[in-house]
Amino acid sequence: MCGIVGYIGNREAYPIVAKGLQRLEYRGYDSAGIAIYGNGELKYSKTKGKVADMRRKLEAEIDPSGTIALGHTRWATHGVPNDINSHPHFSNSGNLVIIHNGIIENYDALKKELTSRGYSFSSDTDTEVLVNLIEDVIVKEGVKLGKAVQMTLNQVVGAYAIAVFDRRKPNEIVVARLGSPLAIGIGKDEYFIASDASPFIEYTNNVIYLEDGEVAVVRKEKGIKVRKIEDDTMVDPYVQELQLNLEQIEKGGFDHFMLKEIFEQPAAIRDTYRGRLLADEGIVSMAGVDDNLERFLNAKRIIVVACGTSWHAGLVSEYLIEELTRIPVEVEYASEFRYRNPIINRDDVVIAISQSGETADTMAAIKLAKERGAFVFGVCNVVGSSIARETHAGAYTHAGPEIGVASTKAFTTQITILALIALKLAKAKGTISKSDFQMHLQELETIPQKIEVALESNDAIREVAFRYKDARNCIYLGRGCNFPVALEGALKLKEISYIHAEGYPAAEMKHGPIALIDEEMPVVVIATRKGHYEKVVSNIQEIKSRKGKIIAIINEGDTSVRELADHVIEVPETMESLSPLVNTIPLQLLSYHIAVMLNKNVDQPRNLAKSVTVE
Ligand code: AGP
Ligand code: GLU
Repeated sequence: MCGIVGYIGNREAYPIVAKGLQRLEYRGYDSAGIAIYGNGELKYSKTKGKVADMRRKLEAEIDPSGTIALGHTRWATHGVPNDINSHPHFSNSGNLVIIHNGIIENYDALKKELTSRGYSFSSDTDTEVLVNLIEDVIVKEGVKLGKAVQMTLNQVVGAYAIAVFDRRKPNEIVVARLGSPLAIGIGKDEYFIASDASPFIEYTNNVIYLEDGEVAVVRKEKGIKVRKIEDDTMVDPYVQELQLNLEQIEKGGFDHFMLKEIFEQPAAIRDTYRGRLLADEGIVSMAGVDDNLERFLNAKRIIVVACGTSWHAGLVSEYLIEELTRIPVEVEYASEFRYRNPIINRDDVVIAISQSGETADTMAAIKLAKERGAFVFGVCNVVGSSIARETHAGAYTHAGPEIGVASTKAFTTQITILALIALKLAKAKGTISKSDFQMHLQELETIPQKIEVALESNDAIREVAFRYKDARNCIYLGRGCNFPVALEGALKLKEISYIHAEGYPAAEMKHGPIALIDEEMPVVVIATRKGHYEKVVSNIQEIKSRKGKIIAIINEGDTSVRELADHVIEVPETMESLSPLVNTIPLQLLSYHIAVMLNKNVDQPRNLAKSVTVE
């Protein structure tokens, strides 16, 4: 999610907060806004677009003087990017102002309840519901802002980093976090609030990183009081003295955005299935599918159109959707689909997958499918992007901005959405038993934790990378739904290290590519236990007998492959259909470390753009 910045002290707040928002621009965003309290007045300006656009608008509209301010850069999750949906948001009385990073899952039910009690809403956001819920608690319970926020957040399900201000008490800001970062910078009689320390590191390096489930009242004169949201008990916060420079802070302490985003995948997957994977209730909730369920259930065929990594996610979905729903799936390169005069029927459903939501070839494929009467569903990571607006319906991955050109968390969150769609359709069609459905939901919930375990092999993977960083070529092999993972692993290596690599179905080797095998050829084999394991072991033996070097991705405790391979990287076991989510992690890290050792520009590889908006 995006960025929040706040200031309370004795200096002019606007320049500090505005510059702080610009410091957070690296996180990507679609709109920005600032509220300032000064001379007894609460003023604000907000707009879709860049921080610079917002600053021009604000300086033309209001007097920016004041010593308290809250600023926000938005990465929309509920409500398209526009001026009204930008933050800050206000309570009905106009007394409370809020900025928020994250997702309030149960906002719809809360909004209905508040509406029934006479509250009105000007935006489509979940955030505006939150600030009115806080107001409602203050009115009903007669409590102060800090207590009202603490009570409110006990009614809320979701992820948040928030800052709230009451213009009737202009000497304090209340902040809280669950699932989204929030740092408090401690100056001399002044305090800074931000998503990370980059907006205030030039003023102070004394920082409190609020912990999940904590709420804090930040008062100019009285300092900071931290409590637990759950039971209002006091917390003695740990003040740390940061030794990081600005660039290190932006990358969350990682050397590159790509590595940061690889490690963000557990959180990104949780954010993506949040509010959608309801294992306890035994349901998958996804409005874009629910509202068009008949179209999906009557589909004679599902056509997936995408490019690059998104196309690989589409290939994984072919295995998932066909296995679970028995609906035929075809996966097309959008760039080929758009020009080959494809057969498209009115009862076809097209799924367009795009992280950026701006890929020209995918957009063209969508338009062609729509012209020929197909229903088009989008899976994008950018709310309000061109593709999101062009499709009939869709579901957003909530991966947060992906800065590294090489897609990582986009891939795994796309697969998460596609798995949820497959499960939802299978349940509706009755092609999956209740117990199987429930087992899939519960296993999907364990995936973030299994990825965390897979990430623990980072050092071991770095050692393997060192051994093969000078390879001229590399082959990646996988079977079943891990064949697309082999393709994705090869693409990662190619695009950031510039080493030629190819992915193949493991069984395909004997139809030609095995001629490439010699002692100079590293072969990465996905050999996890489920799914054709014995056959993969024979493929490994074929390569071994021709002196190929084997790097095998195996499950913990595997002994057979361990004896055959030159190197093994262990990942936790999961069900076959979900294994691409875990098995891709070591391949991302392997390509990352090789590229770093070769001194390549990992985040902006040569010849590549993050979004290919031209043909
Ligand atoms: C993958 O690492 C590349 N960034 C590239 O293949 C990318 O997946 C492709 O250009 C599609 O982009 P999109 O998902 O934004 O449509
Ligand atoms: N869910 C909120 C919205 O869509 C906050 C999004 C963000 O983190 O920027 O406005």
